[in-house]
Amino acid sequence: MGNIFLLGLSFSVMAATPQDLLKSYEAQSSKASPARGEQFFNAKHGKEWSCAFCHENPPNHDTKHIVTGKVIKPLAPSANPARFTDEAKAEKWFKRNCNDVLGRECTAQEKTDVLSWLMTVK
Ligand code: HEC
Repeated sequence: MGNIFLLGLSFSVMAATPQDLLKSYEAQSSKASPARGEQFFNAKHGKEWSCAFCHENPPNHDTKHIVTGKVIKPLAPSANPARFTDEAKAEKWFKRNCNDVLGRECTAQEKTDVLSWLMTVK
């Protein structure tokens, strides 16, 4: 029984979709606002950079990292189906990028809003 449960669990982690992640962030905050997410993405938050500095707006094409010059693949799932299909990866980068841009981690509400907006980008 335990094994079957674990198998089911790891399957659901591997098979995450942007919709799954959005649901889980939304469950920890309140309803998503794509408009607020776009504003958040474009704005500076007391430091030098905005999210859009590296990912650009709309984030539906390859961009360049403003420091390393490395190519960053599109952030919008419509342009890059690998996005937000791996919760650990999404969390790792939210943590790192939010620290660079806000000097703190993003709240569940901020992640909800940004992700819901990214899912509308064509
Ligand atoms: C200094 C450049 C830079 C800035 C600024 C930046 N990012 Fe990123 N971001 C990256 C890089 C580099 C990656 C990882 C490489 C990749 O996945 O293409 C990444 C990946 C991500 C991912 C991973 C998505 C996934 O599941 O594959 C998310 C989410 C993300 N960024 C959100 C944000 C948000 C939100 C902000 C603003 C708070 C932001 N980023 C600001 C460079 C940046």
